[in-house]
Amino acid sequence: MPRTLLIDPVTRIEGHAKITVRLDDAGAVQDTRFHVTEFRGFEAFCRGRSVYEMPALTARTCGICPVSHVLTGAKAGDAVLGVEPPPAARALRRMMNLGQILQSHSLSFFHLSAPDLLLGFDSAPGARNVFGLIDAEPEIARRGIRMRRFGQEVIAALGGRKIHPAWAVPGGVLGNIDPEAVERLRAEHETIVHDAKWAWARYGELVDAHPAEVAAFGDFPSLFFGIVSPDGAWEHHDGLLRFIDAEGNRVGEDFPAERYAEFIGEVADADTYLKSPYHLGAQGGAPVGPQAPGTYRVGPLARVNLAERMGTPLADAALADFRGEFGRVPLGSFHYHGARLIEILACAEQLGELLNDPELGSGPLRAEAGINRLRGVGVSEAPRGTLFHDYRVDEDGRITGVRMIIATGHNNLAMNRTIGQIAEAFVKGPDVAEGALNRIEAGIRAYDPCLSCSTHAVGQMPLVLRVEAADGTLLRELAR
Ligand code: NI
Repeated sequence: MPRTLLIDPVTRIEGHAKITVRLDDAGAVQDTRFHVTEFRGFEAFCRGRSVYEMPALTARTCGICPVSHVLTGAKAGDAVLGVEPPPAARALRRMMNLGQILQSHSLSFFHLSAPDLLLGFDSAPGARNVFGLIDAEPEIARRGIRMRRFGQEVIAALGGRKIHPAWAVPGGVLGNIDPEAVERLRAEHETIVHDAKWAWARYGELVDAHPAEVAAFGDFPSLFFGIVSPDGAWEHHDGLLRFIDAEGNRVGEDFPAERYAEFIGEVADADTYLKSPYHLGAQGGAPVGPQAPGTYRVGPLARVNLAERMGTPLADAALADFRGEFGRVPLGSFHYHGARLIEILACAEQLGELLNDPELGSGPLRAEAGINRLRGVGVSEAPRGTLFHDYRVDEDGRITGVRMIIATGHNNLAMNRTIGQIAEAFVKGPDVAEGALNRIEAGIRAYDPCLSCSTHAVGQMPLVLRVEAADGTLLRELAR
């Protein structure tokens, strides 16, 4: 009788989801699925609201990445007004996004993934968390906490200490950076760069310690997608969108945000609220499954693979190491961790450049205009990957339609395929070891999915793992 192993919900990722592993009669893996089970109709809730309210309103889609929604909503608003924000506003927005990527990556790597990577995927589940890490490797835990706090302080210096910093608005930003905070951040900046460099130096050792996971955590050819700067450097906020293939060749032309629907289709699945975007060009517009060539990945690994260079000295040196070791386009999703560490370094270095720029925050901060276009698309790189906000408005600037594509959605097909690979490598029959279940979760966690965002619902996950037979009988339950 086929059996179903259910991991519900996935722990140490943000939101609510479950993973099902179905075994055939011989106990071999037959099918794997990643389901997202919460939903709140946020797009409908936005209809009739002013485009000026959208950055603050969409920030409420997620308790984890409000900054990414504020910045992307403001950019969609820029497009509706038909203006480009003044240079000072653009620099401050970039600064906030760097702070957001730094703090979010620090959480993902040091708090959520480092326990597995440093203590082992089979280590005692009760200690396989940030507290266990503090006991075993206090130095890495301490530096991770410090890096995250620095990123959070950059955000607070710009947007204030509110949970949803609705500071970026259509046309620019509402306030300048706090000059006292700039002094404090300058004083701490070198320590953060040093910590980031130290963390990167440990990556090779983590890879060497986990060869089976490196091979099984989503190692397959796919497209990669994200923003690139016009000169090919790593980018996170302004620029064109690009697809590359598994060899690093451009797929089609680079394109601006408002043309995304020419290149990206979405397939809905009855099984999950998370839609699966896919690259249209590879399939001529037909819906594709997880094994199909329309699959692409976004986020740290995609951005690093897209970039010709990072654009700052230490991050460029790290990128050269990364490519020397794993090739021009590393394909394994385990390497999201390495790409995240390279991006931490780039963020730390670029924040230093901004903090020491004597022109920072000087000049106008907001371009004023009326409603000049009835549609506006904003795009930005959230820590987890490319985030689109697509607004349609009436002549008074009231929202008539909203479509969002979030990072976790872009990665949905790739995450499904990753679970299948891990299950094939580590699940042998129904008597599944705890470490195998943990690896399935960890494979998803490598993408750092934000399920709050992807379902537009805010929720706290209980920490329980369930293993069930096909008829729903509970075989095992693991609580953390
Ligand atoms: Ni989110």
